[in-house]
Formats: sequence, C-alpha cells, structure tokens
Amino acid sequence: MKKRLVALALAAMTAFSMAACGSSTSGSSSDTASGEQAASSDTASSDSSASGRTLDEIKKDGKIIMVTNAEFEPFEYKDGDDIVGIDVDIANAIADELGVKLEIQDIAFASCIPALQAGKADFIAAGMSITEERKKNVDFTDNYFNASQAIIVPVDSDIAGRADLAGKTVGVQTGTTGDSYCTNEDGSSDVQVGEVKRYEKAVDAAQDVIAGRIDAEVIDNFVADKLVEKNPDKIKKLDEALTEEQYAMALPKGSELTDKFNEILKDLQDSGKLDEIESKYLSAE
Ligand code: ARG
Repeated sequence: MKKRLVALALAAMTAFSMAACGSSTSGSSSDTASGEQAASSDTASSDSSASGRTLDEIKKDGKIIMVTNAEFEPFEYKDGDDIVGIDVDIANAIADELGVKLEIQDIAFASCIPALQAGKADFIAAGMSITEERKKNVDFTDNYFNASQAIIVPVDSDIAGRADLAGKTVGVQTGTTGDSYCTNEDGSSDVQVGEVKRYEKAVDAAQDVIAGRIDAEVIDNFVADKLVEKNPDKIKKLDEALTEEQYAMALPKGSELTDKFNEILKDLQDSGKLDEIESKYLSAE
C-alpha cells in the first residue's frame, strides 16, 4: 500500500496550533527606546538578518546549517555518530544542489523555531508539520510528506480509539502537534485526555507505555510504525488517524531561500529522487 503522498501544492491545513514555542523577539533594535537621533540607522540590515542568511552568504561560507531534533525515526535519528533519515537525505540533496556542505544541529524539537529565529540555523528539517501558529514565525516550503497523529498502546490495551483516551495518561513529544492535539488548549481537537505527559524523545514515551507508566502515546504515524517495529510483542499502533498533517521545511520569515528550496524539492520529486529516499527508510507494506 502506498502511504506516502507528495502533493507539492501547499494545501494549508489546520487547526492544530502549537503551544510550546518560545517568544519571538527576533529584532535587535535594543536601543531604539532612548531618543536617539541617528536617523539613517540600520533598519535594513536588521531586517535582512531576521530573514536569515542570503544564498550568497551561505555559498561564501560553504555550508548551510540545518536544525532538527534527531529523535524521530525514520525522518531524523542517530545511527552511531551519524544523523540519518529521510529529512537528512533530502537536506543533503538540497545542499548538493546549492553546492555547499550540510551541517546538522540536533536540539530539542521545541527549540527549533526559536533557534531559526535567533539566526542560529538556516532552516529546519524535522518532520515538522505546517500549522497556522508556526506560520506566524517561519516560512514553510511546499510540503513534501503527508502524515497524521497515531495512538500507540500496549498490545493488550482496551484503548481502541481516540474516545478511549478520556481519563487516560498520554505521552507526547514536547512542542509537537501531538502535544497540542492532546493538550487541546484552544479546544480545537476532538479529544479529551486525562493527563498529558511530555517527553523530549518519542522513544522514551514508548518505553513508558511498555513499562505501564502511561496508557498511550500520541505521535506521528510513521514514527509510531518504527517504534512498534522495535517492540512488536509489547506495543501496537491503532488504525485511527487522529489528524491530517503535512511536513515541510521551515525557513526564517522572508527568507530568499524558500523559493530555491521549493524549486529543488520539485526537481527531487519530478526526478523520482524523493520517492527513492522515502522508500529507503520506510518499511515496505
Ligand atoms: N510532526 C510533528 C510536529 O510538527 C512532530 C515533529 C517532531 N519532529 C522531530 N524531529 N522530533 O509537531
């Protein structure tokens, strides 16, 4: 069955806003408050630094910096000392196309957008779902992958779907769409869970499901498949898809790189390279 769908038409989605994103003080006009007189100040340059490095700057530097959270197999995860995965291969293809090296910084998922805004990275590739909330702080490329939130439970659990999460303790990865779906602060989700427990790593929540410390985990479907694959006799993924989400890479607001990324993503799709990368990491079904 073909689960992966690539629709390069940006179908803007929805309602799953993201809570845990830090503040967005990206401007650096620290002393504008004091009645200063140097009128022709550096507004222009501070604007351009907010929109990230230019292609020229990146080429001169010889490397492009990606920030991610490498706890998300099959999209980004550690294999020994290496960080590998679908996003990493796509990012490498983009870097190749730009003629620069790819440098990857692995941080907490909830810190990715703040890091981008602070100019510490050129882009985010992290199986990141497009949300209206995030769009206030970053520009997304066209989407390259469709996903959904899924529920993982112990094999013998009586939880059979979202309705059964009522009153249960559910693990999520901090700052993800699974987190906002379960936390439901804005009342937009169709679920009411007992308690949300946040983890830095999806795999730790899965361990707690296995150990019986929590009742379920809500996490992206393909990541859920990988977690279950490793513990098939202990946990299972329910069939129900809780949400519809689209993954895209994120760039600083106003970045001139976004169009370039879209061009390259389209080429990767047209040439079949994207399919190739995905099937390398996804379990055949
Ligand atoms: N798709 C979800 C989101 O955008 C989860 C992404 C988590 N990614 C990661 N690399 N840990 O919130």
